[in-house]
Amino acid sequence: MSSQTNKTVTITDNATGKQVDLPVMHGTDGPDTVDIRSVYKELGYFTFDPGFVSTASCESQITFIDGDEGRLAYRGYPIEQLANHSNFDETCYLLMYGELPNAGQLTEYSANIKQHKSLDSKMQNLFAAFDQNAHPMAMMISAVGALAATHNDDVDVHDAKSRELSMHRLIAKMPILASWCYRHSLNLPFNQPNTDLDYTSDFLSMLFNDSDAPALTPTMVRAMDLILILHADHEQNASTSTVRLSGSSETSPYAALSAGISSLWGPAHGGANEAVIRMLTEIVESGKDLSHYIARAKDKEDRFRLMGFGHRVYKNYDPRAMIIRQICHDLLDEMGEDNPNQPLLKTAMELEKIALEDDYFIQRKLYPNVDFYSGIIFQAMNIPMSLFTVIFALARTVGWLTHWNEMMSDPSNKIGRPRQLYTGHVGKDYSDIENR
Ligand code: SDX
Repeated sequence: MSSQTNKTVTITDNATGKQVDLPVMHGTDGPDTVDIRSVYKELGYFTFDPGFVSTASCESQITFIDGDEGRLAYRGYPIEQLANHSNFDETCYLLMYGELPNAGQLTEYSANIKQHKSLDSKMQNLFAAFDQNAHPMAMMISAVGALAATHNDDVDVHDAKSRELSMHRLIAKMPILASWCYRHSLNLPFNQPNTDLDYTSDFLSMLFNDSDAPALTPTMVRAMDLILILHADHEQNASTSTVRLSGSSETSPYAALSAGISSLWGPAHGGANEAVIRMLTEIVESGKDLSHYIARAKDKEDRFRLMGFGHRVYKNYDPRAMIIRQICHDLLDEMGEDNPNQPLLKTAMELEKIALEDDYFIQRKLYPNVDFYSGIIFQAMNIPMSLFTVIFALARTVGWLTHWNEMMSDPSNKIGRPRQLYTGHVGKDYSDIENR
């Protein structure tokens, strides 16, 4: 838990001479935090921080990021160690319960998830209502929202056991929904889960389990499991903050998760993996020199950005990008030089090299983020671009729910309700339409 220090920060209103001493809070890692909750009451001012660049929205014990050092840890375990030694099931347990499970705990957790690995047949009717080319993220927003209809009466957000049940249900059902989005887009029959398989193998099996599907290799299963581990949580990013803010009204966790999926879809956030492949494909197909695209990325008049580059927090390498880049190499090495994705990887590596030597990117501390390479892996596994962010949402479900649970288990939790700096009209009088 945070500890109040005996340090304070004093704000002085030079207009009135009024002062307020603000307590400084000290966490276990990262910068200290100034508690500004009394500023409005004491000085009559709101604080202003659009985009929350310098604002801690909550206290949390789940994930820590050091953007300057490029460090990421889930419940204190460095992401590199989890990537090298863990698996997604175990990582979900770690995030949810705060510690790595022993064998019995992991077996019980996996059994709980498998117990909920089913979907009401009416859910298939929902998918039937979508055009075949409907974007899978739109389908996921609707499908997870529809689960709020199915499970509306049996959720008590103030009861720990009920919250745990909702978390198990959603972690269990997300891979089924994700696979149904894929199958619907190809007009293929939906596959049912196979609880004899581990979580990641079962997801891949529900995606590809067709007679003519390419055999899944251990490298592919390991690559997907690593992708899920690396995307499982990431502190107070936009979609997690969306889940927290919507969940703070005590709404259904299914509804709050649907809101999180909506936020993740944006190309500035989780939708970047799809945008990276579109960018790399355009570059490869254009035959233009990479310098043309680097120049466009730097041109303020051009909306083009180097997708997969830059991050609000990381001002160093995103540690996940380093790990994913290696997975990329391993997978494409296994698939051979003639794999159609080799040019994308080659272009990505060249783009990265040029950008990292360019002053514009260096000065702004823009490095590859988690999305820069992940799309190449998905593409190499014949996963369509439109499914990339769905897989991100599948992985992040445990993170979103763990933050929701952390918030709802705090008895002091209040509904999130930011204020604003109002600069609009004042003192207007209504006039009848004939006088306007
Ligand atoms: C994810 O928050 C998380 O943790 C998210 C995430 C997670 O796991 O949940 O890590 C997942 O969302 C990763 C980010 C994926 N998005 C992209 O790859 C899209 C491309 N990146 C950018 O759009 C941007 O870098 C953001 C949105 C990621 C961060 O934007 P910020 O922090 O608001 O930074 P900014 O837009 O203020 O940029 C600062 C400067 C600007 O130039 P100046 O005005 O100072 O001259 O850097 C420039 C920007 O123009 N810049 C870029 C750039 N990113 C920033 N210029 C070219 N290409 C880019 N990609």
